[in-house]
Amino acid sequence: MKDNWVKLNIEQFARTFVFSLLLFFMLLLITDSQLQFKQYSLFFVLSIFGSSCLCFTYDDRNKTYLRSLFRFSELCQEGSDADQLIKELTNEIQSVLLGKQIALINYDKKTLKLKGNHIQVPNINISNFKIGEIRETASGSILFIGEKCDTFVFIHLSHKGHPIKIRENEADWLRMLAFCTASALQNKLLIQKKIDEIIIDDQHKCKSAVLSKVLFSISEIERTKLAQDIHDSIIQELIFVCRELEYHVEKYKDIYYIREILLDNIQYIREKCFDLRPPFLMEMGLLRSIQVLIDKHKSNYQLDIEFFVDVKDDSIFTEDITINFYRIVQELLTNAVKHSKASYIVLTMIQKKTSLMFVYEDNGIGIDWNKVNSKTNSFGLTGIKERINCMSGIHNISSGVNEGLLLRFEISTKNE
Ligand SMILES: Nc1ncnc2c1ncn2[C@@H]1O[C@H](COP(=O)(O)OP(=O)(O)OP(=O)(O)O)[C@@H](O)[C@H]1O
Ligand SMILES: [Mg+2]
Repeated sequence: MKDNWVKLNIEQFARTFVFSLLLFFMLLLITDSQLQFKQYSLFFVLSIFGSSCLCFTYDDRNKTYLRSLFRFSELCQEGSDADQLIKELTNEIQSVLLGKQIALINYDKKTLKLKGNHIQVPNINISNFKIGEIRETASGSILFIGEKCDTFVFIHLSHKGHPIKIRENEADWLRMLAFCTASALQNKLLIQKKIDEIIIDDQHKCKSAVLSKVLFSISEIERTKLAQDIHDSIIQELIFVCRELEYHVEKYKDIYYIREILLDNIQYIREKCFDLRPPFLMEMGLLRSIQVLIDKHKSNYQLDIEFFVDVKDDSIFTEDITINFYRIVQELLTNAVKHSKASYIVLTMIQKKTSLMFVYEDNGIGIDWNKVNSKTNSFGLTGIKERINCMSGIHNISSGVNEGLLLRFEISTKNE
């Protein structure tokens, strides 16, 4: 940073010095007479003053371009739509190139013909334009700034119906603005394409698997972040307070119980963090993670849980399958504890030739569908179905009052 500053100032000094000398000799040539020392000195001071003014004006223009670039790249990060962004760009150019006429011109992507009622622009071949390229036409200069869904977008710069004179640094600034705009427009196009895909998908299937997938992965990222935040902040603070208390426990016996409460809370929050996102789910693998979950349920509640596994090749457990299966088992066991009054649960996982089958069965009170269908704030069972759907699986739930619950689902493990 400091080096750059020194380099810039040396450059500025050198520029000013060369300008001063030039100006000085020019003044000498113009006067063409024998001068006295006093006049020489005056000329010299005048030259330095003049060239400094020139250099500062030059630097000031560069700063204006830089500021404009910062301003516009910040705007690009905002969520405005393509038309709004292009409008902001024309405003930005207008605010710097005062007094010039700035207009938008659109060309149809398929026919390469001008679209809409525009200012008079002579017909030009736009097929080989590059982003940021500026060309002069009879009516003005045109700058290529990118593409919208069906249009190539250009900016027309003119002064009283003629092309404007574009200096080198001005051209660089316009080029950079065009690059920023083009990449922002490109991102918007890609997002729009994805949204269209999701909508089309949604029309074909009753519920979009792609959308569920996106939402589940966003929720997984959020859970991981939350678990990490709680672990790094609250738990660490509580551990610190606990350690501080240890020094005083000997002296003030009655604060012993505060330390115990703190330790219980640390343990509780740790468990919640584990539920939010088991730290070693991918490292431990699905089967071991499910076993850990089962062991926790067995030791915390009066439940007999058996887990039968017949899987020969655990490379079928992709990240998607691992997370989805883990979350499904987690919800089923939570429901069993919350609602089922079951004493016995059996989980079975069987790898078939091209599919993976999973079965959950409990001997509890079963689901009263009349009650469940009228509930509006239950998401567990819906989430399970959504997860099976987003793995393109098929499922079957069988339950009724006093019939326990049986859920069976199967997903394909064939690589498409
Ligand atoms: N194993 C089960 N045995 C008996 N009833 C069940 C079982 N699992 C779910 N239920 C019933 O189905 C309802 C819906 O379950 P779901 O998991 O969708 O919601 P929830 O557990 O009430 O709330 P959450 O959104 O926190 O999961 C439950 O309220 C419960 O009445
Ligand atoms: Mg539930």
